[in-house]
Amino acid sequence: MQDKKDLLNEKIALAKLGGGAKRIEKQHAKGKLTARERIHLLMDDGSFDEIGVLVTHRTKDFGMEDQIFYGDGVVTGHGTIDGRPVYVFAQDFTVFGGSLSETHAEKICKIMDLAMKTGLPLIGLNDSGGARIQEGVRSLGGYADIFYRNVMASGVIPQISAIMGPCAGGAVYSPAMTDFTIMVENSSYMFVTGPNVVKTVTNEEVTSEELGGASAHSTKSGVTHLTARNDLDCILQVKKLLSYLPQNCEEKPKSLPYETKEEYRDELENIIPDVATKPYDIKQVITGIADEDSFYEIHKDYAENIVVGFARLAGKSIGIVANQPMSLAGCLDVNSSKKAARFTRTCDCFNVPLLVLVDVPGFLPGTDQEWNAIITNGAKLLYALSEATVPRISLITRKAYGGAYDVMNSKHIGADINFAWPSAEIAVMGAKGASEIIFRKEISAAEDPAAKLLEKEQEYAKLFANPYSAAQRGFIDEVIMPRDTRRKLIRAYALLENKAVSLPKKKHGNIPL
Ligand code: HXC
Repeated sequence: MQDKKDLLNEKIALAKLGGGAKRIEKQHAKGKLTARERIHLLMDDGSFDEIGVLVTHRTKDFGMEDQIFYGDGVVTGHGTIDGRPVYVFAQDFTVFGGSLSETHAEKICKIMDLAMKTGLPLIGLNDSGGARIQEGVRSLGGYADIFYRNVMASGVIPQISAIMGPCAGGAVYSPAMTDFTIMVENSSYMFVTGPNVVKTVTNEEVTSEELGGASAHSTKSGVTHLTARNDLDCILQVKKLLSYLPQNCEEKPKSLPYETKEEYRDELENIIPDVATKPYDIKQVITGIADEDSFYEIHKDYAENIVVGFARLAGKSIGIVANQPMSLAGCLDVNSSKKAARFTRTCDCFNVPLLVLVDVPGFLPGTDQEWNAIITNGAKLLYALSEATVPRISLITRKAYGGAYDVMNSKHIGADINFAWPSAEIAVMGAKGASEIIFRKEISAAEDPAAKLLEKEQEYAKLFANPYSAAQRGFIDEVIMPRDTRRKLIRAYALLENKAVSLPKKKHGNIPL
């Protein structure tokens, strides 16, 4: 009996060393933590229980039978984060470069299945050289087993992928199908084909960092939702992200305790500039409305003409989608439409109510936009908002022009409550452009065309550059003062708390992908 216990302890001690002390030093030298250190930081103290610590690979080729490491390059298990249970896997780069063998994949699949059965979030800490080369197709099959589970779990449980080292080849498709990807700056990269293949095929010279580092994917491709300065920052952000989400699609996000205070925010009164063409930072409006320090921006450096992120209102989690007048005058374009559509759907999956802040002069014109399918991509946002069944509130702060008015959570596409500030302008287009078209003959026949244009512009503006025509028709429920916005929103979300809407019976919709 004693012998068996000693043997078990010895095995566990070996497993805890991962690929050995030297390899751990190598990992640290790259500024990276080990799989177990990462899990230790992620989980509440003493809460982590490992599953499959004694699993080893089954390969006999290439002398592999002499290279056995317990756990086979991935640490899997469950524990709690801020008291809430989650499943986690962390790839161990110190063991065969964290490469994915058949058994490594089986371990991940096992916890994915458990997470699904129990309705708990799944967190993947990725740090891997990809398919275990010595295992060939068995490794590829293992990847596909994971991909399939990622898809089955999509929209059921939150799935978060932290990229904390290499993630290359087909391996990228697991994180790509999870809800959030967060990459560590300077020590992680993701690409389908690496710099050597790129050089051979296209003759481009590019480093791993340039091709698929955190910077490339946060600014150019939008593949990553978040970036982190280092491993610790990454782990802290994973925890933060989870705090805005429920455990699964049947629950609501956890609320923080909140005491009602003086909810008027005077600072909101002076944000909108006097001149309609002057930009202002929509994030000032967001922070003015939300609970203090609660705004957590997602996709911060990608498609900056729209801002998306989580915040709290009276302790409750909300998702914000907001046009940003500081970038491209807040126009909707291909990338911002995709970004906002994706975030809308993520919130809708996980019962996070939506707040849409509108200041949009329209869709960005140009051949680049048309040829890159602004039609199909703009439709994604229209579709995503139309089918979202979570509580949906809009606030028009300034412009809501043209088709973009319809798209940005208008009453017509199912928004529950639509507010506008007195500075709102709801029209087919701006006063100048509209006057030039509809009064063209009158203006050109005038003695002083410039003065006539100005006069017609003012006439048009009086009629449409305000929220009142829309409010008369009920397209706007209430015109509210900026300082009163937070109070109004808190009350409106409280009223919508038990909103229950079901979509027509169907297999699934056909979003224009
Ligand atoms: C087996 C691997 C491995 C792999 C690394 N190792 N990748 N073993 N299969 N895929 C081993 C190395 O042999 C080495 O073992 C140890 O891990 C550490 O690797 P190093 O090369 O010393 O580390 P580093 O210099 O940091 O380079 C990391 C790396 C490099 C850039 C990831 O290891 C690399 O290029 N690996 C191969 C990547 C690759 O081509 N993978 C297949 C992609 S295709 P020793 O014992 O020497 O320390 C793919 C298809 C997926 O993944 C398809 C899904 C559908």
